[in-house]
Amino acid sequence: MKVLITGAKGQLGFEFCKLFTEKNIAYVATDYAELDITNKQIVDVFIASNDFTHVINCAAYNDVDGAEKDSDNCFLLNALAPEYLAMAAKRNGAIFVTYSTDFVFDGNTTTPYTEKDIPNPLSTYAKSKRQGEVRVLECYEKSLVIRTSWLFGIAGKNFNTQVLGWASNKTELKIVDDQLSAPTYARDLAYFTWLLLQKNVYGLYHISNSGIASKFDQAQYLLQKVGWEGTLVRAKSHEFKLAAQRPAFSKLDSSKVENIVGEKIPSWQSGIDRWYDEWSHLQR
Ligand SMILES: NC(=O)c1ccc[n+]([C@@H]2O[C@H](COP(=O)([O-])OP(=O)(O)OC[C@H]3O[C@@H](n4cnc5c(N)ncnc54)[C@H](OP(=O)(O)O)[C@@H]3O)[C@@H](O)[C@H]2O)c1
Repeated sequence: MKVLITGAKGQLGFEFCKLFTEKNIAYVATDYAELDITNKQIVDVFIASNDFTHVINCAAYNDVDGAEKDSDNCFLLNALAPEYLAMAAKRNGAIFVTYSTDFVFDGNTTTPYTEKDIPNPLSTYAKSKRQGEVRVLECYEKSLVIRTSWLFGIAGKNFNTQVLGWASNKTELKIVDDQLSAPTYARDLAYFTWLLLQKNVYGLYHISNSGIASKFDQAQYLLQKVGWEGTLVRAKSHEFKLAAQRPAFSKLDSSKVENIVGEKIPSWQSGIDRWYDEWSHLQR
């Protein structure tokens, strides 16, 4: 087994590198500098000249608001590049894995979304991710497209690090309580992807930490944990002028994956606990 990881310096890529090191699995970690996945020719040559058994794409355009004014680059990275990788993997007989988002749904429900629900993306970012899903699933049958939500990991910035940054120099924070999904620990996403890969299944899957939270709930949980003494105030999305529209409810139902792998995905609170232990240790 030999795995190519793209976007390896990002939150999820970093966790795959750790997981594969722990499991003694051979991998090649690449990020933009080593393998720009938007360059089809370079992707083709890179994959053809190696003997990868798996290609795991962790690279993405994740600036949800920025995408509204940068549509071409967003579609290139989130829709076209995964297809380049999938086609190159197919030619070399390697299994392909890529990631999508809970934002492919419009949020007009209160029931967690299953893989059978019909997407209706609201933003440029979400439309690009949906197009990436379709392109990959149509071009290569040995692909896994895994939707996740509100990812946080050790590498890079995420909502947890933002909240801790704001809290360090403010006595009052306003956080929205009208967007619901599930914060997901990148380590759990990498681990459950790994379990799924061992089951030789392909297609579309949802993996997010269990439970439902608003951004307010996530911030509150984290700030209570660190003993912040400021005031947390509930806010509504319309109070913040953001370029991209987000779904009000985008909790993913991950039971299909749990049934296949025979293991329950931990709660988002457990994810934050484990993330904070490791993250705070690295800050010292
Ligand atoms: N973050 C979330 O809340 C969230 C939510 C739902 C789904 N997802 C999906 O989950 C997956 C993993 O996300 P993540 O949060 O781990 O992403 P991330 O932390 O933003 O990491 C992405 C990595 O890809 C690199 N990259 C950018 N352009 C590239 C290119 N052309 N070629 C190769 N590498 C490139 C980035 O480098 P630079 O940093 O230098 O650009 C970064 O190191 C993605 O598919 C994402 O869309 C994420």
